[in-house]
Amino acid sequence: MSDYFHVRDIHKDFSGMKVLTGVDFKVRKNERHAVIGPNGAGKTTLFNIMSGDLKPSSGIILYKGKDVSGKPPHILNRSGLSRSFQITNVFQQLSVFDNILSGVRSRYGLRYHFFKRPDRDHHLIEKVEALVAEVGLTDVKDQPASSLSYGQQRALEIGVTLSTEPELILLDEPTAGMTHEETVQAIKLIDKVTSGRTLIIIEHDMDVVFSLADTISVLYHGTILVSDSPEKVSNDNRVKDAYLGEG
Ligand SMILES: Nc1ncnc2c1ncn2[C@@H]1O[C@H](COP(=O)(O)OP(=O)(O)O)[C@@H](O)[C@H]1O
Ligand SMILES: [Mg+2]
Repeated sequence: MSDYFHVRDIHKDFSGMKVLTGVDFKVRKNERHAVIGPNGAGKTTLFNIMSGDLKPSSGIILYKGKDVSGKPPHILNRSGLSRSFQITNVFQQLSVFDNILSGVRSRYGLRYHFFKRPDRDHHLIEKVEALVAEVGLTDVKDQPASSLSYGQQRALEIGVTLSTEPELILLDEPTAGMTHEETVQAIKLIDKVTSGRTLIIIEHDMDVVFSLADTISVLYHGTILVSDSPEKVSNDNRVKDAYLGEG
């Protein structure tokens, strides 16, 4: 399915300032797709449009053949698309377990839980325990999120993202601010949890990009310069001139 996710001719202006001027690329199902580009290229703006947090000035996003542009995040979420939440959206005072539980609950909707106490619902508890284990936080599952290390907080964020059972995951610079050690762990985790799923990752760290991505799209001056395999992209002269050469 070459048209699993298609960003088509997206434009975005902020009060007259053109940030995106016709962004176009496709993502295949089960692909790991990285979007790279220099600071200020418009990566986060594009990310917010893909996740439904921001409306494009023009252009459309096709997801599984449907135009989803302008649809709010919770609607996109129901059709399987989930963006990573910022740390501020992890409830700091809640335990790791309860943070994941709240994500799993939102997946099933309130009605499902109305008559059930979560401590009596084995199915629910098993699901939460499995997710906690999947992101490597079993040892700290009863600790408040606020007590976690930075790397563990990002792992929790990914756990909350997974709790809605997404098939397409969007991550915006998940290793930003991490130490080298934390980055290595985070990449292992992302690699593991995205197998059998589709990933679109916005990333600045070239090591991360080249170790993870099947396809790389280079955003430069508001458009996609090239969208191809890591090998092709790293050998592309336009990319060398425009981007890799800068730093
Ligand atoms: N809400 C906004 N209002 C006005 N300008 C914005 C807004 N969001 C981003 N920008 C501008 O758009 C440009 C691209 O920003 P951004 O998408 O954050 O880039 P990147 O993530 O690639 O570093 C920057 O010049 C930034 O200042
Ligand atoms: Mg950004």
